[in-house]
Amino acid sequence: MTSEAIKANLKGRHFLKLADFTKAELQYFIDFALQLKQEQKAGKTHHLLAGKTLAMIFEKASTRTRVSFETGMYQLGGHALFLSKDELQIGRGETIADTAKVLSRYVDGMMIRTFGHHIVEELAEHSSVPIINGLTDDFHPCQVLADLMTIYEKKGSFAGIKIAYVGDGNNMAHSLLIGCAIMGIDCYVATPKNYEVNQSIFALAKDKAKAENVKIEQTHDPIEAVKEADIIYTDVWTSMGFENETSERLQAFKDFQVNEKLAKHAKDDYLFFHCLPAHRGEEVAAEIIDGPHSVVFDEAENRLHVQKAILATLI
Ligand code: CP
Ligand code: NVA
Repeated sequence: MTSEAIKANLKGRHFLKLADFTKAELQYFIDFALQLKQEQKAGKTHHLLAGKTLAMIFEKASTRTRVSFETGMYQLGGHALFLSKDELQIGRGETIADTAKVLSRYVDGMMIRTFGHHIVEELAEHSSVPIINGLTDDFHPCQVLADLMTIYEKKGSFAGIKIAYVGDGNNMAHSLLIGCAIMGIDCYVATPKNYEVNQSIFALAKDKAKAENVKIEQTHDPIEAVKEADIIYTDVWTSMGFENETSERLQAFKDFQVNEKLAKHAKDDYLFFHCLPAHRGEEVAAEIIDGPHSVVFDEAENRLHVQKAILATLI
């Protein structure tokens, strides 16, 4: 398929999870994001969404997602509306379906950060404009697309790369497994017992990986995962919405910190990834996240570029 055909096929679609896209489509977003990044750095304006509005619904906190989407819409010549749950009628019982139908009459796209993934699906079902998943309890596709872009920038290709994800079997781990399976990256996930990834998402990643002939594995041994890895990835031990489990999680995850002792099992030139926000001294030692292997701020920057590519393609 030509790039023009891929682009035409993506227009009007929702961006709910990476599993809904082909390898060529994810590569299209990455290539477009790299182009937009280069243009932005060169001071070239690209008002591809002049006159367009994005509604951004937040049911959870955010620094990167909010600022990168809002800034991205501005750079594309459009406008973004920040809508927190407490200020919307959703907070007083208006249904997701009615909200989707009403907002579709005003805006050209919606981004939502919420709890259950079914909420994003319900919004999409009743919306006539594209819906973008800005994080649910199950997935964080925009983050992983930015991570894939960062890998592509740093390594020049996805071939022969091994990622070790160490920590909670959460939304980040799920999107990473699926993204790696589609793009052809070996992905090993190491979690404590009882904090494994969702097994149907793991099975889906394994299935998708067949086409690329790459390894999708899970273990309870962080060293096994990190052995000879090109990339070590971690995320918070307590995700948003799970705060009441914080103390038991601190105990369960204590042997899963990414520190020098663990990282010495990776390749000498390994890169450290974290979606942020980070908790130094918990999932990652300061010496790692603030050290020479860390690319966490490049990842954070790429959220802006990749989301501009998503917005300008779907809307
Ligand atoms: N990584 C990420 O999504 O960050 P925020 O929670 O700050 O949006
Ligand atoms: N797993 C984290 C990611 C934050 C960007 C959470 O859901 O809180």
